[in-house]
Amino acid sequence: MTAQRKAYRSAILHSVADPKDVGLEDSYQYFEDGIMVVEDGHIVDIGNADDVLARLPQSVAIETFENKLITSGFIDTHIHYPQTGMIASYGEQLLDWLENYTFPEELRFKNPIYAQQVASLFLNELASNGTTTALVFGTVHKESVDVFFQEAEKRNLRMIAGKVLMDRNAPDYLTDTPESGYEESKALIERWHNRGRLLYAVTPRFAPTSTDEQLATVGKLLKEYPDVYMHTHLSENKKEIEWVLELFPERESYLDVYDHFGLLHDRSVFAHGIHLSDCECQRLSDTGSAIAFCPTSNLFLGSGLFNLPKMEKFKVNVGMGTDVGAGTSFSILQTMSEAYKIMQLQQEKLHPLKSLFLATLGGARALRLDDKIGNLAIGKEADFVVLDLHATQLMRFRMKQAKTLEEKLFVLMSLGDDRTVCQTYIFGDKAYDIAGNDNAQDN
Ligand code: GUN
Ligand code: ZN
Repeated sequence: MTAQRKAYRSAILHSVADPKDVGLEDSYQYFEDGIMVVEDGHIVDIGNADDVLARLPQSVAIETFENKLITSGFIDTHIHYPQTGMIASYGEQLLDWLENYTFPEELRFKNPIYAQQVASLFLNELASNGTTTALVFGTVHKESVDVFFQEAEKRNLRMIAGKVLMDRNAPDYLTDTPESGYEESKALIERWHNRGRLLYAVTPRFAPTSTDEQLATVGKLLKEYPDVYMHTHLSENKKEIEWVLELFPERESYLDVYDHFGLLHDRSVFAHGIHLSDCECQRLSDTGSAIAFCPTSNLFLGSGLFNLPKMEKFKVNVGMGTDVGAGTSFSILQTMSEAYKIMQLQQEKLHPLKSLFLATLGGARALRLDDKIGNLAIGKEADFVVLDLHATQLMRFRMKQAKTLEEKLFVLMSLGDDRTVCQTYIFGDKAYDIAGNDNAQDN
């Protein structure tokens, strides 16, 4: 925690609203020469350098960045930490990919020493990509969640995670029961939810791997703990959807399975939602549920093209997710680049300011954390990144031709990745520095 006030001088850009609600011009604040002041882990002032300097006590140290851009830390609304070791596994679509690659790797998390090593590597990877908050799948093993939260707590991160619930259609070595899943989730909620910056998500993997009895326990947990999250997958792949309708013939749609058990509320986050009907979109909207849009995963597994304009039409909250290890990058910048291409394939444009919103404040809204994180407004928690617009030779050359802020932002999102992230600050403290004086915990 930062006891002292500290100021950062740089170009500063952050999202303040959804462009669809206020128009592009009013959706962001940009200070070409700005100062942001941080104290006790929170942002206490921000503005044009001249204005902030006039009110800043002389004793406050100012760190100045040249050719850099400070923005809010990125928010990943769907990712699997146990899949770090099998990212980039060849050749399959969802159901075979799960069976051939995912389940065998997730078995290894029975061993808490392995789980701790991967959790640490995973959190280092998030930091070096500028991601400061994520909604994270564990495995079915409760220890996988304990070690994840322990590592996140050491780093003072705002993280949401949960133990996977799976009581059928998965290898025996990876299943729990409705009773054990319920009891273990309950104990994890009691131990971790609202401990420091940590939050818990009840995490049924997806409808096919839970019985009615297990889904009913999820509804029960959400009633008992109304402020915990619900995190699962929805309508990702056509074969998956057919299978769900076979397994639950009495339900009207894939979403209706979750709805029937009381799993839709304003802290429910569904990954993918690629093939949803109008009725399903309306129901997501009515219940305040959110969708995690995961472009690199949707392309990698050949799942389909996410329809963002349709979600906007139905006023469904959307955040960005990498979905590692089906996703192929931890970088939210790379994820935005792929999101742009998915929109292109549907004759739609994704404006860079909309991308900035989705990667930061939009993600915070989807996670109902926009009163705490998502931008650099006074009072918010000081999770921010310092980006290098000249990170590579190509970027430096290309940036020279970019005249407007929008153009620069688009180049940043198209060409940027972890090389672009110079520093990542967590709750006012430097957690990562590309220069090598890395404060992150080692394995
Ligand atoms: N559906 C059920 N489990 C998974 C998973 O681990 N990854 C993805 N992308 N989809 C899923
Ligand atoms: Zn996933």
